Amino acid sequence: MCGILEQKEWTFSEVKLVKRMKLITCLVALSLMLVLLVGCAAPPAAPPTTETPPPQEQPKQEVNALVFYHWWTSASEAASINALIGVFTSKYPDTAVMPAPVVGGAGYSMLGLIKPLVLAGEAPDAFQMHAGYEAKPYYDAGLLEPIDSLWKSEGLEAVIPKVVQDMCKFDGNYYAVPVNVHRVNVIWYNKKLLDDNNINPASLTTWDAFFAACDKLKAAGVEYPIQLGESWTQAHTFEQILASEGIDFYQDLVNGKITSASDPKLVAALETFKKYLTYVNPDYEGLGWDAATKRIISGESAFNVMGDWANGEFKLVGMVYGKDYGTIGVPGTQDMYGLCIDTFQHPKGVAHPTNSERWLGVVASKDGQDAFNPKKGSIAARSDADLTKYDDYQKAAITDFKTLPNMFPSIVHGSGAPNDFKAKLNEVVPAFVKDKDVSKAASALAAAAQASASQFTTVWSLE
Ligand code: BGC
Repeated sequence: MCGILEQKEWTFSEVKLVKRMKLITCLVALSLMLVLLVGCAAPPAAPPTTETPPPQEQPKQEVNALVFYHWWTSASEAASINALIGVFTSKYPDTAVMPAPVVGGAGYSMLGLIKPLVLAGEAPDAFQMHAGYEAKPYYDAGLLEPIDSLWKSEGLEAVIPKVVQDMCKFDGNYYAVPVNVHRVNVIWYNKKLLDDNNINPASLTTWDAFFAACDKLKAAGVEYPIQLGESWTQAHTFEQILASEGIDFYQDLVNGKITSASDPKLVAALETFKKYLTYVNPDYEGLGWDAATKRIISGESAFNVMGDWANGEFKLVGMVYGKDYGTIGVPGTQDMYGLCIDTFQHPKGVAHPTNSERWLGVVASKDGQDAFNPKKGSIAARSDADLTKYDDYQKAAITDFKTLPNMFPSIVHGSGAPNDFKAKLNEVVPAFVKDKDVSKAASALAAAAQASASQFTTVWSLE
C-alpha cells in the first residue's frame, strides 16, 4: 500500500544545497586522502629490490548496463515491461538490463523514492514518470537533458499526436518520450453479473441510471456493487466524477480557477461521490487497484472505475472483452478521453548515457510500443500501431482517441495540475471517503487551488 507522499516543487536553493553538500563531501574526501598520503610518506624508503612490481591497476571500463526505475508490478504490468525489455535486449544483446521495480500503484511510492536520488546526482539511466507537471520540478532544477535530437532522429513528430507531444515538452523542447496513452474515465464491469440481472450497460449514461443499476444489484444480493480501493484510486474515481461535471468545469479545475468552496459543480461532484460511496466495499483501505479489479473478475462486484491498465488484468486471466467483461464511459464523460501517459526521460549525468538514449529509442519505437501496450491494456502513443496486436477494447479506444472531441489530462496521474495540488487532492479525497463532509472537502479543494495559484503554469485549452 502506498501512502500519500509530499510532491512539493523543488526550489533552486534545495538543489544548490545538495550541490554544496557534494562539494563539501569532495573536500572532506580530498583532505582524508592528503592525510593518508602524508601518513604513507612517513616511513623510510624501502631498499631497491629486483622483484617484479605488481601490475598497475587499469582504468575502469564503463559497464554496459542499463538501470531504470518503474512501478509496473502487477501481474499484467510485469508482463508488459518484460515484453518491452525483450525488444531492447533483442536489439542490444550485450547490455545488462537492470530494472528496479517499486511496488505501489500510480507511482506514489516510486516517485517519492526517486526524488532524493535524482537530487543527489544519483539518477538512474531513466525512470518512469507521467507526462506533464510531474516532470516539472526536475526540469526546473535543470536535472533533465533535452531530447529534441532523439525526437528528430526517430521521426516522432510524424507519429505522436500533438496533444501528447505538447505534454512531453517544457519551454518548447522535448524532455520525455511516451510509451502509451491510458484512458482514465472508464468503468469496468463483469458482464455475467449484469446479464444475470438484466442490466444493459449501454443504458448507464447518467449517474441516476448507474445508481439505479447499483440498487438493482443490491436488491439481488450483490452486497457491494462497486469496488473501491486504496487512497489514490479514490482520488482517481473522484477525478472522473469531477470530469463528469463537464469539460468547461474540468478545464477551469486544471487551470486553477476553481477557487470557491461554493462552486456549484464542485459541490455537485462531491454530492455524487457521496452517493457513489454508499455502494462500495468497506475494506478499501490498502486495497490495490489490481486486487479491486480481481473482485470484478470473480463477480464479487459489478463495477470498478479505473484506468485501462485494468484491461491488462482481465486479459491475463483469459477473459474476453465483450464476452466476459466490458466497459462504459464514466457517466457524463462519454465524449471525453481522460489522459494518463507514461514516459521515460534522460536525467542529467547518468552512468550509462548511451544506454539511456537507446532505451528511450526503444520506448518510443513501434516495435517497443506494440510489444508493451497489447499486454498493458493501453493504446500506443504512436498513431502507426499494428492494430492486429490489439484487442477489441483497445481498438475501440484507438478510434475514440482519434475522434472524441475532448481530451483531458489526469491530475491524479501527474499531468493536469501542479504537484502540490495533486498532493492535496490525494489528502482531501480519502478524508472525504471517511467523513463524507461535502463543505469541508469543497473548502479544502478551493483553498488548495488558491495556495498553488502561481504553480498553475500550463494553460489548458480542452474544448
Ligand atoms: C500508470 C500506469 C499504471 C497505473 C497503476 C498509472 O499511473 O500510468 O502505467 O499501470 O498507474 O500502477
